[in-house]
Amino acid sequence: MSETFEFTVENRQEIDRILSRYPVKRAAMLPTLHLAQQQHGHITSVIEEHVARLLEVPVVDVREVISFYSLFTQKPLGNHHIRLCMSISCWVRGCDQIRDYLQEKLGVAPEHTTSDGNISWEAVPDCLGACELAPMLQLDGYFEGPLQESDVDQILSRCRSDSAANGSKADAGSGE
Ligand code: FES
Repeated sequence: MSETFEFTVENRQEIDRILSRYPVKRAAMLPTLHLAQQQHGHITSVIEEHVARLLEVPVVDVREVISFYSLFTQKPLGNHHIRLCMSISCWVRGCDQIRDYLQEKLGVAPEHTTSDGNISWEAVPDCLGACELAPMLQLDGYFEGPLQESDVDQILSRCRSDSAANGSKADAGSGE
């Protein structure tokens, strides 16, 4: 396997800071994985092994954490990632309609990425912890809501203009 992974110097310094706050390395698993995903976009098996070595735990323990927490992904995501909450408060307030509208506007089903590689999305069954914003979604980690269709239009247009300004992964997407 030729793929390798190393944390950036900045992230390695951050991990050292995090480790200094815990009595055992294993306790730093979540923040370390968050940094890895932030840096690489998703968690690969090489990253799992790297984190396991770094924290001196069996790789199976790292895999268990990744499969337990829905915030971690093993699939490459778009430049922007949307998580639409489908749990009870959001459901009562119309997240079904928002999901259908989002799907129509993006042209791809949940768990997929637009063909230009710009936006990936998922419909999350668990409460995202911001019921006061229902119906709501998380865009790149930030909460948005309460949503109407016009808010979805604005959010997507922001994603598209950000990517145009920063240079998009125009050739990278495959509608996976
Ligand atoms: S049910 Fe959607 S944020 Fe709680």
